[in-house]
Amino acid sequence: GFDIGKLRAETGLVTLDSGYGNTAAYKSGVTYLDGEQGILRYRGYPIEQLAEHGTFLETAYLLINGELPSADELSGFRSEITQHTLLHEDVKRFYDGFPRDAHPMAMLSSVVSALSTFYQDSHNPFDERQRHISTIRLLAKLPTIAAYAYKKSVGHPVVYPSNELGYVENFLRMTFSVPAEEYIPDPVVVAALDKLLILHADHEQNCSTSTVRLVGSSQANLFASISAGINALWGPLHGGANQAVLEMLEQIQASGGDVDTFIRKVKDKEDGVRLMGFGHRVYKSFDPRAKIIKEAAHDVLSALGKSDELLDIALALEERALNDDYFVSRNLYPNVDFYTGLIYRAMGFPNSMFTVLFALGRLPGWVAQWHEMIKEPGSRIGRPRQVYTGVVERDYIPVEQR
Ligand code: ACO
Repeated sequence: GFDIGKLRAETGLVTLDSGYGNTAAYKSGVTYLDGEQGILRYRGYPIEQLAEHGTFLETAYLLINGELPSADELSGFRSEITQHTLLHEDVKRFYDGFPRDAHPMAMLSSVVSALSTFYQDSHNPFDERQRHISTIRLLAKLPTIAAYAYKKSVGHPVVYPSNELGYVENFLRMTFSVPAEEYIPDPVVVAALDKLLILHADHEQNCSTSTVRLVGSSQANLFASISAGINALWGPLHGGANQAVLEMLEQIQASGGDVDTFIRKVKDKEDGVRLMGFGHRVYKSFDPRAKIIKEAAHDVLSALGKSDELLDIALALEERALNDDYFVSRNLYPNVDFYTGLIYRAMGFPNSMFTVLFALGRLPGWVAQWHEMIKEPGSRIGRPRQVYTGVVERDYIPVEQR
């Protein structure tokens, strides 16, 4: 095939591709995405089937190991994870140092990064046993780290993990139980959150996953690489969009629910305002995850007997946008984040936790892609080129003569 490296060596030319819109940096067998047709598959399995019939843990196993687990493999995987959910008591002290109003994403990335100080056996990514134990630790501990961040934000004592509960139940209990009242998770909430985690589990070379790969390509350890991915996810154009959507809906509500004025501001690009939860770099017809999530939002709200004026505002926004040439001509459709915040809110999560829930879901994808990269023979450090636009050359002038 065409050898771009050879061309560069011969001509000195580099390709400039803003936002990597057309540059494949990796070969990957994890996730297939067709943005024109709205297709998303993990290891070949359609996302719709996994969301309807699968569980988050078996999806995590699938992404990381390449195959769905047998019943024995799944129970082994689950029990290994269960044994590692506890955080070292000294890790808890990090939370004492964070300000109470710290954003939970900042706590999440800091504590994940700090895991590499506690598990120094994680530092060699080429040791298969170390890769395995680091993976199990991360999957097991991230819900605990996330729940502790929430507890810090509300000033409640932490709730230790329980080995009797499933992955999602355990997370919900650690988040919402208080000494005065044990939280008994509603099965509807557990099933909906499990489904949402599946839908977020991987999305090929998005900003956070590419960050994990780029950091990991320097042979940094798994905890360091995932911590970087969490920070990349935090931004409002990526995972932070779910929080930004809710804030946008609340603003519209506060202005008396005036959807038309908001749409006008977006179209006029007033103060750079965007319709958050709309548009996607790759999907140009629809986001298959958004379809499933929109249904789930209705199901969860009605099962919990909640009505939410913000859902009505979201539906009105969607309806306006889908019939407006500005959005249609730019292929802007609801993405995964448009309806998730409404579900999380109905479950009792504050806006600041929404992106943390995205991170819990995305973890297996990050890990799977990191493993794939580390195991690939001849994998090279990620090192983009640039087109230099600065001063070509000039002579140094001593400070007293400037
Ligand atoms: N609202 C209004 N206009 C938009 C939006 C939006 N949400 N998204 C894109 N546009 C417009 C741009 O202004 C631009 O218009 P122009 O041609 O007149 O200049 C055109 O559509 C193309 O937009 P780009 O920014 O070039 O598209 P890009 O592929 O770089 O961005 C992104 C994709 C970041 C998702 C963008 O659509 C966006 O900002 N959406 C809102 C934030 C969001 O929901 N992010 C979550 C994405 S999904 C995820 O990460 C989980």
